[in-house]
Amino acid sequence: MIAVLNGANLNMLGKRDPAQYGSLTLSELESRIYAWAGELSMTARCFQTNHEGALIDHIHEASGWATGMIVNPGAWTHYSYAIRDALEIVAAPVVEVHLSDIATREEWRRHSVIRDVVDHAIAGEGPDGYRLALEWLRGALAHV
Ligand code: DQA
Repeated sequence: MIAVLNGANLNMLGKRDPAQYGSLTLSELESRIYAWAGELSMTARCFQTNHEGALIDHIHEASGWATGMIVNPGAWTHYSYAIRDALEIVAAPVVEVHLSDIATREEWRRHSVIRDVVDHAIAGEGPDGYRLALEWLRGALAHV
């Protein structure tokens, strides 16, 4: 079971700047993730929160059942050492996903404080980034 965790403001997809984030809503994105997981013979469970502590609690809880994690922490990516430390505890492979290409946006978005504790990172592929993350995890899990 893959835990797919979306953080702050990702519930506003569809209303946020479509040039950066596209026009899919979060529930449409989650439906795609469930469909992609099915096509790849995987299972996924999606979670979104705007509360940093709730994301930390969920990472702790999911580390007990998830065989892999996909995480898009939103803006917490750039400054939350607490989320970084929670992800560091996770033994399963973790993929960091961003819809937009954070490397080519504002200076403050270019640094990810979680990058050194994740196993793979995908940015700038829009919703397909989550499919690429599932595919990457499927490959990684085939080797364990
Ligand atoms: C984001 C990029 C972050 O900089 C931003 O704060 C988000 C979304 C992305 O998916 O592109 O909320 O993580």
